[in-house]
Amino acid sequence: MLKLSGLGKSYPHPSGAVTVLSGIDALIEAGERVAIIGPSGSGKSTLLALLSGLDQPTSGTIELAGKVLGSLSERELTATRARYLGIVFQQFHLMGHLSALENVTLPLRIAGHVEVETRATSALQDVGLGHRLNHLPQQLSGGECQRVAIARAMVGEPPLILADEPSGNLDAKTGDQVMQLLFDLVRQRRSTLVLVTHNEHLASWCDRRLLLSGGRLVDV
Ligand SMILES: Nc1ncnc2c1ncn2[C@@H]1O[C@H](COP(=O)(O)OP(=O)(O)O)[C@@H](O)[C@H]1O
Ligand SMILES: [Mg+2]
Repeated sequence: MLKLSGLGKSYPHPSGAVTVLSGIDALIEAGERVAIIGPSGSGKSTLLALLSGLDQPTSGTIELAGKVLGSLSERELTATRARYLGIVFQQFHLMGHLSALENVTLPLRIAGHVEVETRATSALQDVGLGHRLNHLPQQLSGGECQRVAIARAMVGEPPLILADEPSGNLDAKTGDQVMQLLFDLVRQRRSTLVLVTHNEHLASWCDRRLLLSGGRLVDV
């Protein structure tokens, strides 16, 4: 599903470039659930931004379903992301002026689907929000917002879900419920999951744990 080869990322800075990732090699098979753990500042979000095609590496390559992300045109990258990826962020990143339903139809519209509302409604029902279709994010609780974000990530049935500390903004109980839901959906759909977390308990729900340390990934 994902192949990382010699992946490196440095950020330029007036006081000298900051190297966050240096020479990462990793293979993630379809259907695997992989936790990426590591202390704050170790580069977990940086790595996920590269995997999601939102940022470009300084060196090395990422293959997603056999496509080298760096070799794609802007249009091909957009199409590839729409087809293969669902992303869940710590801060939800919902569109504040759009209802829950409209937020979930967006990825389907971008992918050129028709009958988007039926599918989006069903995705929201799957996360237990069939009764909140027309609510704006500000009218929803944090846990509900993250459920909308999960519905948005999964509505197009992408084979790969990337999640960056998805329960990091929720209280422990709500966070656990949301994560249980995410894992249930991933299991039902046999999706591949890459979960960034500094929560050891959540990491233990995954098939494999990779520790990001000193710019490199190691199996732990
Ligand atoms: N845009 C940027 N410019 C410069 N440095 C950055 C930038 N984004 C992140 N960093 C640095 O990269 C390191 C890793 O950040 P991040 O990937 O957010 O870590 P994590 O998600 O593991 O907490 C941090 O030291 C951070 O300061
Ligand atoms: Mg982070």
